[in-house]
Amino acid sequence: MRKTLIVSYLARGERSNTKKILDAFSACIKGSSVETLDLCKNPPDFFMPDNLSVYYERNYGGQKIEPKREALMKKMDEMAAQFKSADIIVTAAPMNNFSFPAPLKAYFDSIMQKGVTWTIGAAGYEGMMKGKKALAITSSGGVYEGETAAYDHYSGLIKAQLSMMGFDAIEVISAAGLNIFPDRAADIVETACSKVKTIAEGWYA
Ligand SMILES: Cc1cc2nc3c(=O)[nH]c(=O)nc-3n(C[C@H](O)[C@H](O)[C@H](O)COP(=O)(O)O)c2cc1C
Repeated sequence: MRKTLIVSYLARGERSNTKKILDAFSACIKGSSVETLDLCKNPPDFFMPDNLSVYYERNYGGQKIEPKREALMKKMDEMAAQFKSADIIVTAAPMNNFSFPAPLKAYFDSIMQKGVTWTIGAAGYEGMMKGKKALAITSSGGVYEGETAAYDHYSGLIKAQLSMMGFDAIEVISAAGLNIFPDRAADIVETACSKVKTIAEGWYA
């Protein structure tokens, strides 16, 4: 059976609009086991001097690391193994300051490990998540198009990360403008819900 991993950072809990869209997707999952990782409850580690040196020595240098030092990578390694074990990845987090909330960025820093989710082959970077699908669900207070399109560092960044890892199908669905158009917010969320349902119907057919 396929496995779906849902990674969320929804700090507003039940009030979250991003959560409403995620719930619409989740309701359509079938024929798949589901694992969830709530980054509010289980925040990822950051790379700091001690664990970063282990990462370089091990993942780039191919060195064997003594267990006490390698344990510094334990949380990152567990998150990377869980990510790698899934066939369908769904992330859900709103836009914060034109990009992902920091915990989701730290999550990608944790799981984008050389030799685990991507590598360097004869032709350059090579993804190791081929044959898998990924959906990023988000929402934002503003709308980024035309002159302000370049302010959106969320959708381009997450697409770059997922495509570097080799995902076959990458979708980003955003409910944009929820704060600047409060009287249209419910419709904007509903449109995003319809889009993720259509994706789920295709992926879980
Ligand atoms: C710390 C913080 C930073 C934010 N930064 C942006 C931003 O850069 N651009 C934007 O359009 N909205 C921004 N917002 C608004 C949220 O993205 C928006 O309200 C979103 O829909 C909240 O999602 P939620 O209901 O799932 O929590 C920010 C909100 C917070 C709390």
